[in-house]
Amino acid sequence: SDDPFVIFTPSGKRGRVPRGTPVLSAARRLGVDLDSVCGGRGICSKCQVAPSYGQHSKHGLSVAEDALSPWNAVEQRYDEKRGLKAGRRLGCQATIEDDVVIDVPPESQVHRQIVRKDAAERTIRMDPATRPLFVTVAEPDMHAPTGDLERLKTALAEQWGVTETVAALPVLRKLQPALRDGNRQVTVALHQADAGPAEILDLWPGLYEAGLFGLAIDLGSTTIAAHLCALDDGRVMASAGVMNPQIRFGEDLMSRVSYAMMNPGGDRELTDAVRRAMGELAASVAAEAGVAPRAVVETVIVCNPVMHHLFLGIDPVELGQAPFALATSDAVRCGVAELGLDGMNAAARAYLLPCIAGHVGADAAAVALSEAPGASEDLVLVVDVGTNAEILLGDRQGVLACSSPTGPAFEGAQISAGQRAAPGAIEAVRIDRETLEPKFRVIGCDLWSDAPGFAEAVGATGITGICGSGIIEAVAEMRMAGLLDPSGLIGSAEQTGSARCVPEGRTQSYVLHEGDGESPRVAVTQNDIRAIQLAKSALYAGARLLMDARGVDRVDRVVLAGAFGAHISPLHAMVLGMIPDTRLEKVTSAGNAAGTGARIALLNRAARAEIEAEVRRIRKIETAVEPRFQEHFVAANALPHASDPFPELSA
Ligand code: FES
Repeated sequence: SDDPFVIFTPSGKRGRVPRGTPVLSAARRLGVDLDSVCGGRGICSKCQVAPSYGQHSKHGLSVAEDALSPWNAVEQRYDEKRGLKAGRRLGCQATIEDDVVIDVPPESQVHRQIVRKDAAERTIRMDPATRPLFVTVAEPDMHAPTGDLERLKTALAEQWGVTETVAALPVLRKLQPALRDGNRQVTVALHQADAGPAEILDLWPGLYEAGLFGLAIDLGSTTIAAHLCALDDGRVMASAGVMNPQIRFGEDLMSRVSYAMMNPGGDRELTDAVRRAMGELAASVAAEAGVAPRAVVETVIVCNPVMHHLFLGIDPVELGQAPFALATSDAVRCGVAELGLDGMNAAARAYLLPCIAGHVGADAAAVALSEAPGASEDLVLVVDVGTNAEILLGDRQGVLACSSPTGPAFEGAQISAGQRAAPGAIEAVRIDRETLEPKFRVIGCDLWSDAPGFAEAVGATGITGICGSGIIEAVAEMRMAGLLDPSGLIGSAEQTGSARCVPEGRTQSYVLHEGDGESPRVAVTQNDIRAIQLAKSALYAGARLLMDARGVDRVDRVVLAGAFGAHISPLHAMVLGMIPDTRLEKVTSAGNAAGTGARIALLNRAARAEIEAEVRRIRKIETAVEPRFQEHFVAANALPHASDPFPELSA
């Protein structure tokens, strides 16, 4: 046939199209991913392509300079008003006249891949549930009367192939003014979940170009973190965090559950407090990014089961006792208005990831989405360390999950000089094996404490206490320096030869920092060691239970997740016996994996379906009722362990 032959790169998709076919239509016909917001009217420029002329020996094609039609008036006007990059054409205007090779640059692809910048490189395929679509709505006709909404729906069907659409009352109220202002052209924010009709969330007169955004929220028991992402290319516009205001009702989750149980209306108070904080956080992140709250049309929330219930306004009382029944383990889809969540578009859609079990929440599901243990070739242990440790063990053959009550010691709570990770906190510790003298680093200062200029560099913040990673390193260093015996007992000055070991009551403490007028004394007490031992035993015992269930006594690699996981040194974690023995280089940090999982679910619809299916496949182990948990817990109390070998440590 003499129809011109067209090859699209980088997809390689190819075929013949009738002469005169616009590039955008050819792309649609050949299944090439080419973006368009204005539906081919030459105003959005999302459809830009780069034809490449000359000899293409690889494709056996010679492309003439006039393979595409010359610029038409629309393209000319666009270039004059907004400017087109050299070599670029508007795919909706340029038509195919002869054999041609056409490149679709990344920014013109609907389904862009974004590379995650933290930790392990990985790409997220962009396929957000909500997209802006520009439509021209037919004039009303007195002789064939229909409503403007009906004509908008017809336009969406004809111009975008969206056959079934619904719109709520607020959209209806904005419709006629928008049509008038936009000269019968509007941009709708169209939300398309996996099934069911598409929903018009909002609309703007004419071509709306300020973009749509989504908020990924990691709702923790202690802190709430939010990342505002652009829904067109996934970039993170701004991130922020606040303390969870529920803390005033109880530090840990179970005390919040009992607050809800003991006080009539207590669950309501907890719910209101967290929603208010999240709304304020949403507004402040949007303000920081210079984004109008109205442009934020989606949010994805990950959290543990108790936070999940409290946030949704479900009484968490069943989660406080066996059999720890969740009201629902499925993903939850609803509107933010139903959740009383401000700070974003009132019609924005919310998505909560599924929960794995009564103790293993949507946060663990988000970690599973981010780290994909079920796709791993080798057996991987993923540990998300917080007040509870969420633990996943698996590979392609299957994934097991549990949660273990580590308590807040790893976050610096219950430690004599403990504090949260904030400027002034000691975060890293080294103890000289010969002199038994310590040195340390504090958050907000790059120098070690024995470096010249440390005092000035620490400056006004000073030394305020010790955070989770600091106390872990301190205990591990004390063990390696022989200041602690395997049972965790601190030796006296006579036994160890260090004057820093001082009696305190009937036990010994090791003084890290002598305190002065400006800063408090920071010592590691016997009680601190016990608190760390309890926390690490719970963590190890949880991991061990999963290994039992899988029938293995070694894992191939360990991933430490969580903001805290990012700061733990693998060597120190292993000296303590927090994690099972593994080659040190096989212990990696995933950063805030739950937050990354939330971001993936925000930007990619398919990922939601994927994790919903994956969660059903994950086998849950309930640590609270597993008799071997106690056994493992007791044995794990020693440093690193009473009976399990740690060959990599001796190596
Ligand atoms: Fe909007 Fe081409 S599709 S300019």
